[in-house]
Amino acid sequence: TWTIGNVITDQVEAIRAQVGDARAVCGLSGGVDSSVAAALVQRAIGDRLTCVLVDHGLLREGEVEQVEQDFVAATGVDLVVVDAADRFLAALAGVSDPETKRKVIGREFIRVFEEAAARVVADSAEQGEPVEFLVQGTLYPDVVESGGGSGTATIKSHHNVGGLPDDLEFGLVEPLRTLFKDEVRRVGLELGVPEEIVWRQPFPGPGLGIRIVGEVTADRLEILRRADAIAREELTAAGLDREVWQCPVVLLADVRSVGVQGDGRTYGHPVVLRPVSSEDAMTADWTRLPYDVLATISTRITNEVREVNRVVLDVTSKPPGTIEWE
Ligand code: XMP
Repeated sequence: TWTIGNVITDQVEAIRAQVGDARAVCGLSGGVDSSVAAALVQRAIGDRLTCVLVDHGLLREGEVEQVEQDFVAATGVDLVVVDAADRFLAALAGVSDPETKRKVIGREFIRVFEEAAARVVADSAEQGEPVEFLVQGTLYPDVVESGGGSGTATIKSHHNVGGLPDDLEFGLVEPLRTLFKDEVRRVGLELGVPEEIVWRQPFPGPGLGIRIVGEVTADRLEILRRADAIAREELTAAGLDREVWQCPVVLLADVRSVGVQGDGRTYGHPVVLRPVSSEDAMTADWTRLPYDVLATISTRITNEVREVNRVVLDVTSKPPGTIEWE
């Protein structure tokens, strides 16, 4: 019979059979899929799995800590966090075009991950236990969409890691390949993955980098991170997390408007709230959030984030608008 318990037992056996005595490495994003995949593989092979979290400095408030502390405490995974915020900021300097931002962030992400993975491989080779596998949180809908093939991945070892071939071939471990999202969540809960991660709303890979309209700078990220944290806190407090598919908070960094805050006139930035309801992100409608929740978010952001003097609400469906602003 099909139960979540049986899915876990079967997958744990399959992972052990595939990996044998070798080691595996897994990139964690803080999202549901990579977290549950990592938790399953760690259940199967324990410390022979090493997870790598690339902190690109574009995550929301508390997200790295959530993985570093709560996820590790709950699952026992061996985690390496790479703080690459400065490197991403440097690469993003002067970039305002959305697609260029995506390209730059994607390119740096792969480089940083590959360097970190190569270090894990080098360490393990020294100890005589090679890393031969890469864990990925591929779900059933991804398998169908991409035509079904599973196989290998190549990681470039770069030149800062001595004694490794230039390219390393990995076998892919994809323990979620037969599962839909709701099943992945149930597996995650059963494995003790924290609820905040299991029920996390979708968040784009390029992170806050595509929620600053204009150039991405450290100061702007800090402003957006604080505004976003307030919006998320109030939506959670109002019990709206499951009703809202996601709620991007967008900083219009190149726009300024006049306001009056505290003792005087200000010339600050607007943030946009973009709450949407959706089934699959292909189409979406703007969520009719209760006025009092909107009011609380607006008051708190303009009180607590000095640089922001207006909060505006995006009331566009998708299409014609996309969910993100970039
Ligand atoms: P749009 O803005 O196209 O977004 O309506 C649809 C869904 O995709 C997410 N999104 C991204 N996810 N990399 C990602 O991993 C991206 O570059 C990206 N752009 C948009 C968005 O958050 C929404 O869930």
